[in-house]
Amino acid sequence: MGSSAFIILDMLTRGQLTSKAIYIAAKLRIADYLNDGPKDIEKLAKETRTHPNSLYRLLRMLASIDIFAETKGAVVEEHTNHKRFELTSLASLLLSETKDSVRNFALLFGLESFKKAIDDLLYSIETGDSSFKHANGLDIYEYIQQNQNDAQIFNSAMTSLTSSHISSILSMYDFSRFNTIIDIGGGQGMLLSTILKNNARLQGILFDLPHAIESAKRMYVKGANSKDNNSDILARCKLIEGDFFKSIPAVDADGYIIKNVILNWDDEYAGVILKNCLQAIKTTSSNKTKRKNNIRLLVIDIIMPESSEPFIGKFTDILMLALTDKGRIRTEKEFRNLLEGSGFDMVNVIRSPDPVNFLSIIEAIPSG
Ligand SMILES: C[S@@+](CC[C@H](N)C(=O)[O-])C[C@H]1O[C@@H](n2cnc3c(N)ncnc32)[C@H](O)[C@@H]1O
Repeated sequence: MGSSAFIILDMLTRGQLTSKAIYIAAKLRIADYLNDGPKDIEKLAKETRTHPNSLYRLLRMLASIDIFAETKGAVVEEHTNHKRFELTSLASLLLSETKDSVRNFALLFGLESFKKAIDDLLYSIETGDSSFKHANGLDIYEYIQQNQNDAQIFNSAMTSLTSSHISSILSMYDFSRFNTIIDIGGGQGMLLSTILKNNARLQGILFDLPHAIESAKRMYVKGANSKDNNSDILARCKLIEGDFFKSIPAVDADGYIIKNVILNWDDEYAGVILKNCLQAIKTTSSNKTKRKNNIRLLVIDIIMPESSEPFIGKFTDILMLALTDKGRIRTEKEFRNLLEGSGFDMVNVIRSPDPVNFLSIIEAIPSG
């Protein structure tokens, strides 16, 4: 077998098993159990109710890609049950209660509904339609509305994703220029609440489907009772549930944020969201010229490069094909066409200087 064949074999094995192993480590809360320091396999297996030698083999595999590390002691332990493992900086991201945790995102990949959709990807490639819907009978947001457990994991996963690049987004744009921001499809409100926390005079509106607003309420109430008291933010923020395909609340905002939403839809549906946004702007800003000139739509999303360079968005694009109803990652040109067709002019594209943040901010204003 030529050495190139090994590259393919390696990709086939690693790709599948890396995702699975990270999910299992997250599910078993291995990182949490190691948070107070290294532990041997025997103890870890007892705590996680797993088979010691199999757990050892899983951690050895993950340690080979820097997720966990085997602790090097003075004495080399022969028996695998006495091998000790510790956190690495990558493994720390699987802790459950840290700011930039991705544990919830890892859990998403263990949901039956997600696994079925990914397994059925060939269907999407053959038909262009959602394998999520084909495998689960409902489109993803209908399904989430009806399955509370999946909704909770999905919403927390989106929050994990947002918190992993929130500081980068805050450094890319001066949100203090606004008086009132509405975050459309804003999930649990992680982005909005952080913007409000950093801009004491700003008012905010979180707008999403009922499942997300419910979960945002639980989070804010929990936050208000915790030591990083959220009550000031709660007082400046309205939570509104609704359907952005029907209408977007006319709340007299000057900042309209749509983050990681447009990628879920084809041009027809994305166009409806943008046109409803324009309608909300027109309803409230007609008599206030100064305010009107300050109005901005910020689409925060992944932009697909035109070239063939390696880019995470090329994988996210396939995830969108499988999970959503014709969602896609768009090039800058495709965004421009979509915005222009929906009554907006694209005025600026702010790309992240931070290589780990793959999101850009597309700034647009109502045309004319
Ligand atoms: C991929 S998530 C992004 C969430 C959030 N903006 C973020 O970046 O973390 C897409 C969001 O769109 C919301 N959504 C989907 N369909 C919607 C609809 N018809 N009306 C309002 N929100 C909707 C979902 O509930 C979800 O919170």
